Amino acid sequence: MYKSNFTYNMSLFIFGILLISLNLNSSTVEISKYNGNNTKTLLVKYGEQVFENEKCYKCHALNDEDAKWGKKSLEAFGGKRTSAMISAFLDNPKILYPKTRMPSFAQLQHEQLNKNTLKTVLSEDPISDTELEIAWKTINKQADELTKTINLDKAVEHKKSSQTALIAFLQSLP
Ligand code: HEC
Repeated sequence: MYKSNFTYNMSLFIFGILLISLNLNSSTVEISKYNGNNTKTLLVKYGEQVFENEKCYKCHALNDEDAKWGKKSLEAFGGKRTSAMISAFLDNPKILYPKTRMPSFAQLQHEQLNKNTLKTVLSEDPISDTELEIAWKTINKQADELTKTINLDKAVEHKKSSQTALIAFLQSLP
């Protein structure tokens, strides 16, 4: 009797520990999602750089809190629209907002992804040439996949480009 009670208590105890560690685990995931340390794909990181280069931040904030002076917040934009729709919108923002002051970013479809930009994007931690080659292959694979998905929508013609990375970034916005 004593023994089985002990086993029962022990298993409750272990179950409790398991629950607590699961909980801790999920809260770290939650925190990292907002401090920008989540495992972003290379394509998303590259797209963040395109967002910088194109100065989208002049008119946009990435969260509601920073959306002052008439800046339009892109908080929680990820997943709101299909990637094909975003591509068509970046080509011609007037398809969604006929009177918008947002300019066209169609030219980004003519700008190929390039290794030097990728190197800059990864410069937080210096990498060897071999690692850069691997990253270059990876990002191209990610871009090929997204391009393929976008082109499933027959109304849109999308070229693998800086715009592909920008779309990946926009789709990642929490
Ligand atoms: C001159 C200002 C301006 C610039 C520059 C600008 N935008 Fe916008 N953008 C807007 C405005 C304003 C809207 C909201 C639509 C409206 O009311 O006109 C908008 C809307 C959007 C939306 C939401 C579209 C939707 O689905 O409703 C996205 C995404 C977006 N912009 C991305 C970008 C990106 C990426 C860049 C840079 C490559 C950029 N914008 C540059 C002004 C700008």
